[in-house]
Amino acid sequence: MDFKKRTNLFLGALLLTGGLFAQNVYVSTPNTSLVLSAPEGGKLEYLYYGSKLSDVDMQNLETVESKHTAYPEYGMNCPTETALAVKHADGNMTLQLQVLKVTASEENNAVTTVVSLKDKVYPFFVNVCYRAWQDADVIEAWTEISHQEKKPVVLNQFASAYLPIRRGEVWLSHLYGSWGNEGRVSQEPLASGMKVIKNKDGVRNSHTSHAEVMFSLDGRPQENAGNVIGAALCYSGNYKLRIDTHDDGYHHFFAGINEENSAYTLKKDELFRTPELALTYSSEGLSGGSRNFHRWARLHKLAHGTTPRKILLNSWEGVYFDINQEGMDQMMADIASMGGELFVMDDGWFGDKYPRKNDSSSLGDWTVDKSKLPKGIDGLLADAKKHGIKFGIWIEPEMANTVSELYEQHPEWVIKAPERDLVLGRGGTQVVLDLANPAVQDYIFKVVDDLMTAYPAIDYIKWDANMSIMNHGSQYLTKDNQSHLYIEYHRGFEKVCQRIRSKYPDLTIQACASGGGRANYGVLPYFDEFWVSDNTDALQRVYMQWGTSYFFPAIAMASHISAAPNHQTFRTIPLKYRIDVAMSGRLGMEIQPKNMTEGEKALCKNAIAEYKTIRPVVQMGDIYRLISPYDNKGVASLMYVAPQKDKAVFYWWKTEHFCNQHLPRVKMAGLCPDKYYKVHELNRIDNVPLNFEGKVFSGAYLMTNGLEIPYNHRVDYHKQNDYSSRVLYLEEMK
Ligand code: DGJ
Repeated sequence: MDFKKRTNLFLGALLLTGGLFAQNVYVSTPNTSLVLSAPEGGKLEYLYYGSKLSDVDMQNLETVESKHTAYPEYGMNCPTETALAVKHADGNMTLQLQVLKVTASEENNAVTTVVSLKDKVYPFFVNVCYRAWQDADVIEAWTEISHQEKKPVVLNQFASAYLPIRRGEVWLSHLYGSWGNEGRVSQEPLASGMKVIKNKDGVRNSHTSHAEVMFSLDGRPQENAGNVIGAALCYSGNYKLRIDTHDDGYHHFFAGINEENSAYTLKKDELFRTPELALTYSSEGLSGGSRNFHRWARLHKLAHGTTPRKILLNSWEGVYFDINQEGMDQMMADIASMGGELFVMDDGWFGDKYPRKNDSSSLGDWTVDKSKLPKGIDGLLADAKKHGIKFGIWIEPEMANTVSELYEQHPEWVIKAPERDLVLGRGGTQVVLDLANPAVQDYIFKVVDDLMTAYPAIDYIKWDANMSIMNHGSQYLTKDNQSHLYIEYHRGFEKVCQRIRSKYPDLTIQACASGGGRANYGVLPYFDEFWVSDNTDALQRVYMQWGTSYFFPAIAMASHISAAPNHQTFRTIPLKYRIDVAMSGRLGMEIQPKNMTEGEKALCKNAIAEYKTIRPVVQMGDIYRLISPYDNKGVASLMYVAPQKDKAVFYWWKTEHFCNQHLPRVKMAGLCPDKYYKVHELNRIDNVPLNFEGKVFSGAYLMTNGLEIPYNHRVDYHKQNDYSSRVLYLEEMK
């Protein structure tokens, strides 16, 4: 059915079933439905969220489903958890919202439904909004809050959305972690009481917990079976997710900006827009939920989500701050010779009065350190051109050091509490710039604009952010509005990103924040990818990338081959395994190639060539996670399948090694049972091919039986080690 027809039908449904006093609102994606009851003058209530309803089911929904206020407001039912709590100028702390009208419109393959609510007494308005994508099973929910009261109204709580989830055996999957250990999966059954997942960093928001969750509705989470609701808050700042489990038979799920220390004074006619909560529903388990998020992300949420990413070498772990012209040229030559497409010069290239020798100075002074780079960025760009690759550069534009020319000139630009000494960050001198201040926004835009104007050939920016807000205080905001700091910081950040994107739409930008501090859908419309973690240890990456893939597609997950022993865990992992893990994300390298043997370089060169073949499948394909590393079965495995199901890439990484340990035989998923696939091993190091190399199997066989993967590599005795991994490429035989 074409889009126009579908939309007309949708609008038709809205009108046909809705009388003036009993109107139901249907919000639909290809495979899901969300139904609200929106009687004019009455309450807006949820009736249903789940798999797509038939017309008959829609008609009879009200006889079976219980209703829940769709955007619960505080004051007239005080004991319950709420989404919105305000204080009117006269001191009244209550709200009573009623439906004014419902509108629907279509744009860019999405239908947006807005239910306008008004307080029964006060001129206080809330638009409850839903954007239903017609090419991805995601519904984004958010609100717009405004009023026409004479004096400002204080918003004390302002969630983006609320969703009631029927109590049963519901399990929550969410991510937690810390620096070097991002994206760890935590799974737990939801029990009575309140579960809160929140962030208070101020700048980054995914180092600890994440603003995305999955609810498995039928008991212990399964990857490829069971009904799942996924939720991702699209916000770059402090967030709070609450799940209140009640004896009323429901889990009450709220998500939005963390209101702690952030009460917001809303002026007359000002619009307060909450960030979107992206909801998805899948009857194909956690992996099904992930596939929905990934598709939506690639099509609508991620910068350049359908453009394949370049294979790069980043200089950080190779040379750290030891940047110089010859060294950069050598690294560029090396990555080019291995087939790479881009070189990124990391930290350490800038600072004039205060050259950046380590992390204790220079942030803010984005001029080339001529003692390190006498030929400047022009020289580096010329080198890149000579080697036939692109060039990228690291910046950390939201920050300064107190040892910098910027701080000397603009001490008023930093976030600082009045009357207090500064609490300093990294290097003992780092400070955060006050993005609430438009002058700071202009300055940060100019950092990028100046670089891109002077050096338009720059292809890629790694945008880092290595400090939390440690001092609550904006030198720009008025003293009455200090509690707006966290919100205004992220509004300012978004404004800068929008300006950069409108002037430089083609630039590739990585969101890095001390590793994976900015894996969130608030930043991703402006960023092409994020750095999953500063921890590049391949074994630990299996766990971190597994968790991160719940919500984010491989195309957005920067995953680099690094040195052995690893610089974070000091573990020595063979190159083959390091390659096989990195190749399951956006492949890159984070190593000094000068220190690699010719044999190692040849292995990487081969891997890069093979990755180019599978890149479309990895970066645009559908994920099927097969065996979780968290299940401690000694192996982890996942695969990506091309949308046409004619190609697939299967990954198998051993995570433990004990004699006579029995590893499970992994059944594949996502293939077409009737198609025949030829199996070919990539990155092969064995002296003899696998038994099934070049053989053909039906999708049915591969999904019912899987292939028996040898536990060890068949290599010369002195090359044996305890690691083992396989990457298999499956191509349909026609
Ligand atoms: C933190 C990042 O996560 C690293 O990759 C690196 O860019 C350093 N900052 C540079 O200071």
